[in-house]
Amino acid sequence: MARRREDSEPVTPAELARVDRMRRDFVANVSHELKTPATSLQLLAESLLEVLDDDPGQARFFAEQLKSETGRMNQLISDLLDLARLESEEGVPDPRPVDVRSVLMVVLARMRQVARGKEIDLRWKRYGEASRYIIEGDETQITSMFTNLVDNAVKYTPPGGVVEVIGDAAGGGISVSVSDTGIGIPRDKLSRLFERFYRVDKARSKETGGTGLGLSIVRHIAEKHGGRVSVQSAPGEGSTFTVHPPRR
Ligand SMILES: Nc1ncnc2c1ncn2[C@@H]1O[C@H](COP(=O)(O)OP(=O)(O)O)[C@@H](O)[C@H]1O
Ligand SMILES: [Mg+2]
Repeated sequence: MARRREDSEPVTPAELARVDRMRRDFVANVSHELKTPATSLQLLAESLLEVLDDDPGQARFFAEQLKSETGRMNQLISDLLDLARLESEEGVPDPRPVDVRSVLMVVLARMRQVARGKEIDLRWKRYGEASRYIIEGDETQITSMFTNLVDNAVKYTPPGGVVEVIGDAAGGGISVSVSDTGIGIPRDKLSRLFERFYRVDKARSKETGGTGLGLSIVRHIAEKHGGRVSVQSAPGEGSTFTVHPPRR
């Protein structure tokens, strides 16, 4: 019996080939991204062994480097695991009431120290009654979504800049935007921003310890909660990322 189209669209060979190519690209990307820190770990361990007996100062330096490189690799692996989980689950598995306002307070409190260290003014504004900030969702995912956005804003804003988080629950649903006065993003790069491993400036992002997975995690989480994320940016002026509520 012929399948009815509305039950499931037949998969075309071209589509299968595309999915297979994406899968292969992904495996190649992951291997490459893991290879880089793995190579540094090995080099650092070798250097540490060389100086261990005669130069405690140098040995300490290599040990510190080993620690931070290991941390970076760990972050990459946990981002990959998060992404794999987000991609394999349909929707939010166990939705519960989440107070977006208190999530934002927690995220801001955690980021305050980093912002202060960079002399960035981290501000927060809220429109709409506190009681309207409750949604059904996954608190851990929502926390991770806003942490990624604020982390980027602080990371890609030079010292002396401003990062502002604005919650708006005055209309239908809650929208949250994270604005910065940072380096901004060229127009022709905006469309690729939410792809896995995509970084506008690869060298710079590596330096700051980014995995290139943050924004694709953000997009998945927003969409799982029925919303979406958009970006506006101008190089040298700053960027605004907004998480929009589900359309009514
Ligand atoms: N607020 C921002 N200002 C400027 N560039 C940004 C901002 N947020 C993200 N980007 C760009 O988008 C890229 C992807 O972001 P993300 O997925 O979080 O990766 P990363 O691990 O590099 O932070 C970053 O490498 C950076 O080039
Ligand atoms: Mg990031």
